[in-house]
Amino acid sequence: MNTNRKPIVAGNWKMNNTVAEALALVAEIKRQAAESKGVEIVLCPPFTALQAVSNAISGTAIGLGAQNMHWEKAGAFTGEVSAAMLRELYCHYVIIGHSERRTLFGETDAAVNRKVKTALASNLHPIVCVGETLQQRQANQTEAVIRTQVLNGLKDIGPDQFTPVIMAYEPIWAIGTGMTATPDQAQAVHKFIRGLLQEMIGERVAQTVRIQYGGSVKPANARELFHQPDIDGGLIGGAALDADAFMAIVNAAL
Ligand code: 13P
Repeated sequence: MNTNRKPIVAGNWKMNNTVAEALALVAEIKRQAAESKGVEIVLCPPFTALQAVSNAISGTAIGLGAQNMHWEKAGAFTGEVSAAMLRELYCHYVIIGHSERRTLFGETDAAVNRKVKTALASNLHPIVCVGETLQQRQANQTEAVIRTQVLNGLKDIGPDQFTPVIMAYEPIWAIGTGMTATPDQAQAVHKFIRGLLQEMIGERVAQTVRIQYGGSVKPANARELFHQPDIDGGLIGGAALDADAFMAIVNAAL
C-alpha cells in the first residue's frame, strides 16, 4: 500500500443474494462501515439487487458497482445492461473482464477494451480484471498473459483519461480455491502491472492507479497482502458475503 493512493476494497457478490438477502447484508456492512473512513468501500451486487442496495447505501460513503455492462448505448442486446442504466441507479463502478466472464462467457480483451472506453465515457470507474491460470503460471507465462490482457484491454486510453481506472489482479488459480497468492507473488505481478501502465501512460499517472488483489482474500491474509507497496486493496468474492469477514478485510486496508 502506498499512502498516496486511497485503498479500495470491493465486494464482488457474483450470482449471490436475492434482494432480501442483499438488504440484510448491507444493513450490517453499513453499521460497521462508519468506522472505516480511510478505505473506499464498494459493493457489487447482482443487477437485480442494485436498486435496493443503492437506496440502502444512499447518504453513506459506500460506493455501488455492477459486475458487468455492455459497451453499446442501447439496442437489441438481449440480457445486457447499459452504462446509462447503471448510472441511473447511482452506480459508479463496474467490474470489467472478470475471469469468470472471460472463461465462462467468452469475453475477449477486445470486448474488455470497448467496455472500459464506454465506462470512462459514462463516468463509471471500470475495475479491470486480469489474471493467469495455474497452467500458465506453471509454464512461466504469467507476465506474457498479463501483458497481453493489460495492453489490449486498455488500448488507446490516454493518461488524461486513465485516472478513474482501477485494476484488479486476480490469479485464476486463487479464485474461490482457498489458494491465495503469497504477498510476494502478488506484489511481483502488481509491480509488473504498474510497470506496464508506466509504459502506456507514463510514470506520473501510473503511480496514481489503484491495483486491487483478488483471489481467496480472507481476514487472516488481507493485512499482509495489502501491506505490499503496489497492492491498493482487494476485490473480494466469497468473504464479501459475510459482513464481519468483509469488514475485517476492509479494516485490514486501513
Ligand atoms: P474469492 O474471494 O471467492 O476467491 O473470489 C475472488 C473474486 O473472483 C473476486 O472478483
